[in-house]
Amino acid sequence: MRNKWFRCVLCVQLGWCTASIITAQTTDKRVCIIGAGIAGLTSAKYMKEEGINFTVLEATNYIGGTWRYEPKIGSDEYGMPIYTSMYKHLRTNLPKPTMELRGFPAPDSWPSFPSWKLFYEYLKDYSRHLDLEKHIKFLHIVTSVRREGNIWKVTYKHIPSGEEFVEDYDFVVVGTGHHSKPNMPNIPGEKLFNGTIIHSHDYRVPDVYKDRRVLMIGSGPSGMDISLDVAETAKTLIHSHHSVVNFRTPFPANYIKKPDVKEFNETGAIFVDGTYEDLDDVIYCTGFEYDYHFLDETSGLTLNYAKRSLTPLHNYVVNIHQPTMVFMGLVVRACVVIAIDAQAQYVTALLKGNFTLPTKEKMLEIWQKRVDAIRSRGKPISHIHILDQYEDQYYAELTRESGIPRVPPVMFKIRSKDMEAKLENLYTYRNYVYTIIDDETFTRTLEKDKYNKSFENELH
Ligand SMILES: Cc1cc2nc3c(=O)[nH]c(=O)nc-3n(C[C@H](O)[C@H](O)[C@H](O)COP(=O)(O)OP(=O)(O)OC[C@H]3O[C@@H](n4cnc5c(N)ncnc54)[C@H](O)[C@@H]3O)c2cc1C
Ligand SMILES: *[C@@H]1O[C@H](CO)[C@@H](O)[C@H](O)[C@H]1NC(C)=O
Ligand SMILES: *[C@@H]1O[C@H](CO)[C@@H](O)[C@H](O)[C@H]1NC(C)=O
Ligand SMILES: *[C@@H]1O[C@H](CO)[C@@H](O)[C@H](O)[C@H]1NC(C)=O
Ligand SMILES: *[C@@H]1O[C@H](CO)[C@@H](O)[C@H](O)[C@H]1NC(C)=O
Ligand SMILES: *[C@@H]1O[C@H](CO)[C@@H](O)[C@H](O)[C@H]1NC(C)=O
Repeated sequence: MRNKWFRCVLCVQLGWCTASIITAQTTDKRVCIIGAGIAGLTSAKYMKEEGINFTVLEATNYIGGTWRYEPKIGSDEYGMPIYTSMYKHLRTNLPKPTMELRGFPAPDSWPSFPSWKLFYEYLKDYSRHLDLEKHIKFLHIVTSVRREGNIWKVTYKHIPSGEEFVEDYDFVVVGTGHHSKPNMPNIPGEKLFNGTIIHSHDYRVPDVYKDRRVLMIGSGPSGMDISLDVAETAKTLIHSHHSVVNFRTPFPANYIKKPDVKEFNETGAIFVDGTYEDLDDVIYCTGFEYDYHFLDETSGLTLNYAKRSLTPLHNYVVNIHQPTMVFMGLVVRACVVIAIDAQAQYVTALLKGNFTLPTKEKMLEIWQKRVDAIRSRGKPISHIHILDQYEDQYYAELTRESGIPRVPPVMFKIRSKDMEAKLENLYTYRNYVYTIIDDETFTRTLEKDKYNKSFENELH
């Protein structure tokens, strides 16, 4: 396959090319992109630019994945589980420059941290502007992806009619997201508890918690953000988590920090320190599982650590055992939008034959080093998806291997500064405006209209 491609590139360079050869190149590989969220849209954009033959299969009737707010929970009009986990008051937790897709600046009118609504509009504009929708088959859910010989057999279903299709593809891009299937904790006595229990996937508005005693479990980004949202209306917000992060936020008087829950009884929760709280409602902010039920053993991959890790992947993207299958967005503690955009370029460059992957042995060796490093720190394998302080190195590595444009180091620098601001005060970190000066530097100012006396007092 590669030789054929190489010949074609060569003949283009030597000017021997005829239209039929170009056609041969563009129809050579058939690509299936699963999902029309940011991962699917950015992949479609770059492949379209390169004349690659692709189809996007999207289970819902919408682009944008998790960025579309849906007031309803449970199932949709077709009886499918509601995909999105968006809540009404969400504003991005990263500032504007780190939320922009390449070549498509966000509107000047955006605040520094836009609402889900502005960001969702932006994604729709992106899709419209690049004319991507005609490549997307909406309401088509992928149910099986199997390796058979040299091809991927992709089975998918048109949801309204139930009609099933089986197609052959040379290459599969999995952009199905990983913020939809709740990871539920298993806490003793949960069945006894008389109040309501939901997962953050089904959290929409704080109004329903008015004057109630609410227990929030978990301190990830959603746990922290939803806590503050609910504390606005709840009588008491009891926040149970074991994070060692030093949150210096001045929490309101109705916010009570608790350690892990030992067990529930009919009326409330007993915590591991022996204390008890009466409760009306519980919200689990305990994260999500990866959902790759459409894959089987022919993928060569392993879903491990309570379904929160997928291995082995090269550069967090390429299935090492079947390198014609790639995964997008399997990184956390990063500028996820920027990272996905770079991964989409990397994958397109790979398809285009701009670079070749290291050998399987080499990829496994690189991957194993990362696994060993995580093990030696005593961490679970799911930590393999954490970029954190390695984020900028990651972008450098993608560029070094594939020749794609380098994500400028300033992105990671902005995220680091934003992280400090979050630790300082979760109520005020969104008041900062970050402006990129060049690839290495940025400035940070306060959003004028948000600047007020109480905020000033909190600073010093
Ligand atoms: C509440 C919340 C807040 C967030 N806030 C931020 C933020 O502020 N900043 C940030 O950078 N990131 C944030 N994120 C992370 C967010 O997931 C990414 O920004 C981004 O949406 C990931 O895009 P994606 O395309 O990988 O996945 P998704 O947006 O999840 O899209 C996946 C798509 O795949 C489709 N799909 C799934 N399975 C199938 C199938 N079998 N067949 C066909 N289609 C399928 C889904 O319907 C969906 O449209 C947030 C996430 C959540 C849940
Ligand atoms: C893409 O591939 C399909 C199936 O092989 C083919 O019918 C179609 O013409 C191709 N499209 C382009 C633009 O090459
Ligand atoms: C449980 O809820 C029901 C209905 O809301 C109520 O009648 C009952 O008294 C509650 N039981 C306890 C132990 O609080
Ligand atoms: C639940 O446990 C607490 C603490 O032990 C206790 O005070 C409370 O009465 C218990 N509730 C019920 C319904 O037994
Ligand atoms: C592949 O290489 C060509 C030639 O250098 C370049 O024009 C193109 O942008 C590259 N494609 C990607 C996706 O990096
Ligand atoms: C002023 O600052 C306080 C405390 O930081 C904040 O809660 C409030 O939202 C700010 N006011 C406005 C208008 O942004």
